[in-house]
Amino acid sequence: MIRTHESGRLRAADAGTEVLLAGWVASRRDHGGVVFIDLRDASGVVQCVLREGTGGELRSEFCLRVVGEVSQRPEGNENPDLATGDIEITVSSYDILSTSDPLPFPLDEHAPDISEERRLQYRYLDLRRASVADALKLRSRITSAARRVMDAHGFLDVETPYLTRSTPEGARDFLVPVRLQPGSWYALPQSPQLFKQLLMVGGLERYYQFARCFRDEDFRADRQPEFSQLDIEMSFCEQDDVIALAEEILTAVWNDVLDVQLTTPFPRMTYGEAMRRYGSDKPDTRFAMELVDLTAYFESTGFKIFASSEHVGAVVVPGGGSYSRRELDGWNEWSRSRGGKGVAYVLVGADGVPTGGIAKNLGEQELAGLPAATGAAAGDAIFFQAGPKSATLEALGALRLAAARDRGVLPDGGWNFLWVTDAPMFEPTSDGAGWTSVHHPFTRPRAEDEAILTERPGEALAVAYDVVLNGSEIGGGSLRIHERELQQKVFSVLGLSEDEARAQFGFLLDAFRFGPPPHGGIAFGWDRVSMLAAGAGSIRDVIAFPKTASGGDP
Ligand code: AMO
Repeated sequence: MIRTHESGRLRAADAGTEVLLAGWVASRRDHGGVVFIDLRDASGVVQCVLREGTGGELRSEFCLRVVGEVSQRPEGNENPDLATGDIEITVSSYDILSTSDPLPFPLDEHAPDISEERRLQYRYLDLRRASVADALKLRSRITSAARRVMDAHGFLDVETPYLTRSTPEGARDFLVPVRLQPGSWYALPQSPQLFKQLLMVGGLERYYQFARCFRDEDFRADRQPEFSQLDIEMSFCEQDDVIALAEEILTAVWNDVLDVQLTTPFPRMTYGEAMRRYGSDKPDTRFAMELVDLTAYFESTGFKIFASSEHVGAVVVPGGGSYSRRELDGWNEWSRSRGGKGVAYVLVGADGVPTGGIAKNLGEQELAGLPAATGAAAGDAIFFQAGPKSATLEALGALRLAAARDRGVLPDGGWNFLWVTDAPMFEPTSDGAGWTSVHHPFTRPRAEDEAILTERPGEALAVAYDVVLNGSEIGGGSLRIHERELQQKVFSVLGLSEDEARAQFGFLLDAFRFGPPPHGGIAFGWDRVSMLAAGAGSIRDVIAFPKTASGGDP
């Protein structure tokens, strides 16, 4: 038997017990010949007192086995910061199980910042730090809580292939050469979407899986090229059934793991409203700063740029009236770095009159009416954007977030869950020549929009729902098309000829010939759910071996 107890679980009640412990030397202190070590294992840390004259050869992160007795610490020597702080181990003997070279960086929590590259290169050492390991422990509990809900509802955990053909979710595929068929490639799945639909045709009715997904796309703090989804599909369901199940999963996770009671149902907002009020399909609703539509206000303005724009909007920046020239130039640069044309502004003076920026381009009345039209108060700034509607709303949405962050308006805490529903089926491709799916090509249009699908694709809305937490998209799903003709129609809007559709998705169209059930589902971005629940700043913190921003694994 290598050990009898876990170090971190020993308490005053264990005093007098003989124990065998195993773990690592977290720290070593020499007090005039008596050596103290903090022995760490996965459960925590306990202080060990070595016999005089021993322990001289021990170094940080040596792996040890210790034999000793649990003793009450002498009065006044307790450490209230440590769970085991009332006791210590009086060591009678120890074995060195393995030694450690000097460490590339200190492992204590208060060590100075170490570059992420270096931390990932020695991830196995990084993981010995409690805060790093805690995030993975939390993630494991989050996953268990979700599994309990899936089990309770009779969902089957079914695996789908990783070596497969392309499943379009809007990113590039990762490809794997097929050795036995030179010139042929497997694509790693961007999601199990098509397989889970085939499982529904197969009559399984309720499927879930923690699935790895692979997408070759640009990096962000909340993106990895391989990431995990809690992927779900069910037959004979309506949108509200999927939403209720998703809320039950999130509620269970927050309740069981974080001891936070969430109120259901979560608020819902249509995609159109989210874009109009927040300039985002995943609005952070923890603070207001809602966008103001000034298109009508400036309809007959003499300021040409505004008069000729499809959309003119503004966001009021609280206290922004005190921005310096340099700070305002900074906002212009910020906008240009995102591909914008700069930020037009006016500053509302103490007397409530807007000045500066584009004030000279506006009529006296127009200017005077702006605070009332936008809700700006003395001392605020009004930031404007003008141009094509959807791009302008998006730019304003980004400006709202950045300005909120800059002014300290963006709250740290809160759990604002929100459903965003009724997204458009299609949006114009980047070259404007065709249409691409806003969700994916298997998403069902609203019944009332089936008729306009091919004539006015841009107006058709989908039975789709995304779940947003504090401005992060943590999941998305939809009811699916299960009719061959309707699926063909969607493919044709996307520019696929009948032959191309057959070549790429013939298996799906064929499956739909054999009594496919109506079905729908959702997938959570599980790394994102875990990151937000853990209060982490990046999904890399809840992944044991993440890729760096350049896509490498050091
Ligand atoms: P979608 O593409 O919206 O839907 O993905 C679902 C969720 O996965 C997360 N996510 C990511 N997380 C980390 N890194 C990435 N690169 C990344 N990309 C997406 C997001 C997102 O909400 N098959 C559909 C689901 C369905 O319709 O049932 C799908 O994959 O949190």
